[in-house]
Amino acid sequence: MVFSSLLALAFAALPALAQTDFSSAHNVTAIGGTWSSGSQQVVTGSGFANPATLSFTYPNVTGVSFAFSEDGWYETARYRFVSNGSSPNCITGVVLWHHGSYTFNDNGSITLNPLADGFQQVQDPCAAESNFIQQYNTTEIYQLWSITEDTNGPLLRLYDSGSAPLAPMSQVYSTPNILPQKLLNNGTEATITGTSSSLFVSSASRQWAPAELVSLASSVFAVGVASLLL
Ligand SMILES: *[C@@H]1O[C@H](CO)[C@@H](O)[C@H](O)[C@H]1NC(C)=O
Ligand SMILES: *[C@@H]1O[C@H](CO)[C@@H](O)[C@H](O)[C@H]1NC(C)=O
Ligand SMILES: *[C@@H]1O[C@H](CO)[C@@H](O)[C@H](O)[C@H]1NC(C)=O
Repeated sequence: MVFSSLLALAFAALPALAQTDFSSAHNVTAIGGTWSSGSQQVVTGSGFANPATLSFTYPNVTGVSFAFSEDGWYETARYRFVSNGSSPNCITGVVLWHHGSYTFNDNGSITLNPLADGFQQVQDPCAAESNFIQQYNTTEIYQLWSITEDTNGPLLRLYDSGSAPLAPMSQVYSTPNILPQKLLNNGTEATITGTSSSLFVSSASRQWAPAELVSLASSVFAVGVASLLL
């Protein structure tokens, strides 16, 4: 009896799980287009990153953006602050851009394979090296995704490799707003340190979206900056 009611519960849960299935049958629209979280000030394309000069135009607020083309290309832009659990005053700012090809996997996950021209700027006022730009060339996997209908249109939810949700993204354009689909710098392995531009400038006028403030246990910091790549 207990077993059969457990079984009934399990089956009752299935439709909910199916919502996050990758198949377009479970999504209100295809993933193609340009998506952006919150007030939609972080958007992929030329307004965010210039890979040739390894520079960013900092948005006024934090957020995340993804663009997907129907022919298997993606671009992503992300601006966030990561709080340090053991030192609440030490907040690390990260701006990240990369592009490349994406694939849908049989288990419903999405794999992003970046070209070697991705880059990020990391600023940690408490670290010895407090401000640097480095290449970002890490394959990313998003375990689940779903597109549901929101009052303002389609809403894309992506869940990272640890199944933690990213901030939900609204569709800002039905087409991908992206830089040219090719290598846009020589995949520099040089790290630029001590850049003068600061993510923390005019922080008084900059809103920090709570959803982008990720609290991490101090043990996570044992791996240092690597943990920011997630
Ligand atoms: C977090 O704060 C601790 C203690 O101040 C420090 O040792 C550590 O490097 C910080 N971690 C990061 C990623 O800034
Ligand atoms: C889903 O498939 C991808 C690609 O094969 C794999 O990397 C990932 O680990 C799988 N996820 C799970 C939860 O098994
Ligand atoms: C980027 O990563 C890929 C896959 O790990 C590797 O083959 C390639 O050599 C890397 N490129 C650079 C410039 O590090």
